[in-house]
Amino acid sequence: MAKGTVAYKIIEKHLVSGRLIPGEEIAIKIDQTLTQDATGTMAYLQFEAMGVDRVKTELSVSYIDHNMLQTDYKNPDDHKYLMSVAKRYGVYLSKPGNGICHQVHVERFAKPGKTLLGSDSHTPTSGGVGMLAIGAGGLDVAAAMAGEPFYLKMPRIVGVKLTGTLPPWVTAKDIILELLRRLTVKGGVGKIFEYFGEGIKELSVPERATITNMGAELGATTSIFPSDEITRAYLKAQGREEDWIELLPDENAEYDEVIEINLSELEPLIACPHSPDNVVPVREVEGVKVDQVVIGSCTNSSFVDLTRAGKMLEGRRIHPDVIFAVAPGSKQALELIAQEGILLNFLKAGARVLESACGPCIGMGYAPPSGGVSVRSFNRNFEGRSGTKDAKVYLASPEVCVASAIAGEIIDPRRLAEREGIKWIKVQMPERFPYGDEAIIPPLPEEEAKKVEIYRGPNIAPLPEFDELPTEIQGEVSLIVGDNITTDHIMPAGANILPLRSNIYAISEYVYHYVDPEFVSRAKKIRDEKGIANIIIGGENYGQGSSREHAALAPRFLGVRVVIAKSFARIHHANLINFGILPLEFVDKRDYAKFSLGDEVHIPELIDRLKGGKEILVINKTTKEEIACKYSLTPKQVSVLLSGGLLRWIKNKQKV
Ligand code: F3S
Repeated sequence: MAKGTVAYKIIEKHLVSGRLIPGEEIAIKIDQTLTQDATGTMAYLQFEAMGVDRVKTELSVSYIDHNMLQTDYKNPDDHKYLMSVAKRYGVYLSKPGNGICHQVHVERFAKPGKTLLGSDSHTPTSGGVGMLAIGAGGLDVAAAMAGEPFYLKMPRIVGVKLTGTLPPWVTAKDIILELLRRLTVKGGVGKIFEYFGEGIKELSVPERATITNMGAELGATTSIFPSDEITRAYLKAQGREEDWIELLPDENAEYDEVIEINLSELEPLIACPHSPDNVVPVREVEGVKVDQVVIGSCTNSSFVDLTRAGKMLEGRRIHPDVIFAVAPGSKQALELIAQEGILLNFLKAGARVLESACGPCIGMGYAPPSGGVSVRSFNRNFEGRSGTKDAKVYLASPEVCVASAIAGEIIDPRRLAEREGIKWIKVQMPERFPYGDEAIIPPLPEEEAKKVEIYRGPNIAPLPEFDELPTEIQGEVSLIVGDNITTDHIMPAGANILPLRSNIYAISEYVYHYVDPEFVSRAKKIRDEKGIANIIIGGENYGQGSSREHAALAPRFLGVRVVIAKSFARIHHANLINFGILPLEFVDKRDYAKFSLGDEVHIPELIDRLKGGKEILVINKTTKEEIACKYSLTPKQVSVLLSGGLLRWIKNKQKV
């Protein structure tokens, strides 16, 4: 039952309904929310549609960090909309250039013992200060801002016991890469990872945040560290000591499962293309020629990361064949490395300094050359995510990145250090950070806020209305995909597509664009000419990756009503339900092979079976076979599906 653990204590304190038994549906109160612009525009459009006058959370922050390119009106329209909507509804606004949402949230807002719901899958980064921080779709976050609790299945709480001491050149990134190596991208589904043991005493808050950040790649609900004296010192240096509380596991805390990692036995690791769990020791891939190297992202761009990387570069030059860039995670981190002279090391080494934003992570303003090798301190390396379809992206610690940038090929930093006489340094945390809140706009008082007019440029399109779930479905299989389909496959990012996130009519033209360019026209034909539902057939772990709800919203707009897969990733599963798409799983996974493109499908007695908790029979009318499907839906999710999605569900509730 995981009693006495940090996660259990926070959940218990925030419990609105349900029992704390793994797998059972619970609802928890949400104290804070965060959104970023790529998911935020839609989240606030949905929040507006809920008709609430002001956010009901203790604190909500809207970050602008993803779509920074301002090459025409689209992104600036979105930014201005977000700025006005924050003013209108009592939300903090972090302006473009202030930093990546998770990095800034840890620095300026995260509080131990509180709950955070964010419309970004790496929201668990704030778990580094002992906060229960969960990533969700924008609609769930909008609902939390409107005062709704967050519903989830009570996760199993896995204790990760860290023993020993990290050797020089081995870092927090290697701890989480080791966990990914052992457990894979599916290993954390339905679980919270809670770190404990002697080993955590060595890890600073930014290092802990690297680990909780990349827990998202395990598919975990969240990851968390206790709030101890290290947390206190960090918050004090941020001028927020009053936000600190001690939050430790009880001595007799029982975890549902325990995994042990001996830090002394770790070595520098690297995730090879194209999955964050494709992890090997760096020494095994040494010698691979490198085209570009970048340090940044919400995983490894803190002051600690930048300082270590910058010190390695002191008096050295980047290899002539390599383009090296650094994107500090926040304005605060940038200010600090400027103050300490580290920034100069980057400049003198020949680095390109990017602004404090997501940038290269999603191919915005910095992408690898065709077929190129990019070594990054980031968290994801799915095919195409970098903006270049055939690029090979490796993920590693900033130390491995810098070593490879100097050598022009992937190299174990220990070997380069020996060769070049580079010393390993332990970064001291500053006693006082430059707070750097100049680009954070606090909420207006309520009366003033009511007078604010919301700006809506031409890139802000109204929300489409969706209907209820029909009693039975007639449909056609319009797409069949394999295992580990990511939300990047479903709804790609990239410089042309991201600016359309506030315009569902325009962005839906890109659904499955790089997987099957014919999908959209086929889906529209089925929706408009045949007047029946689109059905997608998927493999294992369908919808892994980011929290982007556009990967559910846009298919729904194209007429997708059912996805039948071998298994689903957590956030995408929830997003499908939020937009009224039924996620079904094969009872017998071999039945995946019983569908072909264009097969006609009938799903009878849908509502009765859902209400009765019975298996659903999917009839393939083309082959005349019956396929048994199951579903993993809580009573609330069934009710949301029947309403046609969460927005209608909330509106119906408000009418009562
Ligand atoms: Fe941004 Fe990439 Fe993190 S898009 S929020 S840096 S995963």
